[in-house]
Amino acid sequence: MPVLKSGLKRVLGRTGFDIVRSANNLGGVDDFIPFEATMRAARAAGLSVGDHIDAVMNGTPGATQSTIDKLRDLGVFATDPQTVLEIGPGSGRYLEKTLKECSPDRYEIYETAGPWADYLVTTFGVVARPTAGSSLAPTSDASVDLVQAHKVFNTVTFLCASRYFYEMARVTRPGGRIVFDVMTETCLDPAAVHAWATDGGSGHDSYPAALPRQTCVDLFATLNCTLEASFLAPMGVASTEVLVFAKGT
Ligand SMILES: C[S@@+](CC[C@H](N)C(=O)[O-])C[C@H]1O[C@@H](n2cnc3c(N)ncnc32)[C@H](O)[C@@H]1O
Repeated sequence: MPVLKSGLKRVLGRTGFDIVRSANNLGGVDDFIPFEATMRAARAAGLSVGDHIDAVMNGTPGATQSTIDKLRDLGVFATDPQTVLEIGPGSGRYLEKTLKECSPDRYEIYETAGPWADYLVTTFGVVARPTAGSSLAPTSDASVDLVQAHKVFNTVTFLCASRYFYEMARVTRPGGRIVFDVMTETCLDPAAVHAWATDGGSGHDSYPAALPRQTCVDLFATLNCTLEASFLAPMGVASTEVLVFAKGT
């Protein structure tokens, strides 16, 4: 594990992200919380690992479920997606709850943290795809009903996120949905900027990464994907904005 600066350690203590280097370090925060220690702590607390991260590590109990509830209310699971793809599922806290909402034949993951990817494959029977930078190359064009990423694009570089955006649009089936969160200007009022400036982000160049909302909306429009809805989700010292796109038929 790299030596962490004290400011980062303080923030990570608050947000629950104790960074370790994954075996496949391709730029950006392709790191995640340590597998063994997190699993042990969740077991000791009598919680699923996802609920442990929400409630104990992040201090935001119910945050993952709240996002899933909003997605359900928006009809994201109503069409019973048969193929789901998730980028950066980490502990699988969104994955686990997604699988309570729908029963896909295939759930593909792209995850750089090896131990977590292995755990998700074993526990949930998902398919881990080789993960290299921002490519979804192993997934065919227009083959996925629901593509999602949570708390990923605020941790990677602009180029990593934007390259993934093209890939997400490519693999989504006409009529399918694309769901991801970004730290947009909606999340960056002066109080939030002050919170980040004083309490967050030191020690890792790509975290937290901001992306303009309109840039996302305009880019996806060129890829035949229309913004259907958006809402805020808590994160660390502030929030991210979840964007829900539908791919045109
Ligand atoms: C902040 S964590 C969020 C994890 C999970 N989605 C959650 O909300 O708990 C970011 C995740 O993205 C993964 N990741 C980082 N860079 C990636 C990349 N280029 N491709 C795929 N996953 C990546 C990390 O290993 C980690 O699991």
